[in-house]
Amino acid sequence: MSINIDWENLGFSYMKLPYRFIAHYKNGQWEKGELTEDATLHLSESSPALHYGQQAFEGLKAYRTKSGDIQLFRPDQNAERLQKTADRLLMPQVPTDFFIDAVKSVVKANHEYVPPYESGGSLYLRPLLIGVGDIIGVQPAQEYIFTVFAMPVGSYFKGGLTPTKFIVSRDYDRAAPHGTGAAKVGGNYAGSLLPGQNAHHAGYSDVIYLDPATHTKIEEVGSANFFGITKDNEFVTPLSPSILPSITKYSLLYLAEKRLGLKAIEGDVEIDKLDRFAEAGACGTAAVISPIAGIQNADEYHVFYSETEVGPITHKLYDELVGIQKGDVPAPDGWIYPVSL
Ligand code: PLP
Ligand code: COI
Repeated sequence: MSINIDWENLGFSYMKLPYRFIAHYKNGQWEKGELTEDATLHLSESSPALHYGQQAFEGLKAYRTKSGDIQLFRPDQNAERLQKTADRLLMPQVPTDFFIDAVKSVVKANHEYVPPYESGGSLYLRPLLIGVGDIIGVQPAQEYIFTVFAMPVGSYFKGGLTPTKFIVSRDYDRAAPHGTGAAKVGGNYAGSLLPGQNAHHAGYSDVIYLDPATHTKIEEVGSANFFGITKDNEFVTPLSPSILPSITKYSLLYLAEKRLGLKAIEGDVEIDKLDRFAEAGACGTAAVISPIAGIQNADEYHVFYSETEVGPITHKLYDELVGIQKGDVPAPDGWIYPVSL
């Protein structure tokens, strides 16, 4: 590769790559769209995305296999989730094939930036759908922009597979009951910036949010879903209408049951019953599987498996998931989309 990047030490930072995809929606339809070298969006000052948060995003990754090929992990699931988010915010859906073709075109155009297999990095893709145009009342836009850009990334949490600490947010919720918690909209993240910053300043990787109605059950992490492995070898992850339906989480539910032989359960995770778990982790596209060392909840600090070592089941799940993503482990049907150059 001719590009001068320190592949082994990539964090999770923006990098301006040569190409991105952009398409406009006007008069009730999507135009064909194109790759562009222009990394700046041009939009009306009155765009509803800017004022009223009528926008949505996605996150997915392209991986380099041992043989040097490039593949995507479950991009159809990201397309479907973006469609659900679009419905919630009265935005036009981006059809699945259109979405996948756009993502593939960005990967192909920037293929030299897909990190080498050995580096542990991947190419993170950020699809973005925004309401634009000249509107000032609180109403949906008539025009939209769909764009997909990309950058090589490494670990999201600085520990990688080394466990890190998380803290329960007592003062702020991420989502409201019947709000937009299940949609991937920027507003959910805007509200999480302050508690996230407080957590970082206090030395924690991220915030654990509780259910907004009763504050008794874990919902999710600010940037990932939560899972725990019980002392009876069950894989448990919260079930709630106000958390983001994580594609990684659903993949792990499947792998835990079918490949590891665990009982896989979506259910309640009471914050005062953390003792039932032998291991815990955060999971997501950016987070991959990040082991949780311990959770600070008010004055109590609960340690799971170890503060320094990843637990054995979390490790097995990681190997299975990442093995599939990087082409070393056979994937369930339909999970892998090759990108041919
Ligand atoms: N929860 C939140 C709040 C997230 O931002 C993400 C990231 O996308 C996830 C969970 C994990 O979802 P996925 O596994 O689909 O990336
Ligand atoms: C992702 O994992 O793709 C996300 O969107 C998390 C993000 C907040 C970095």
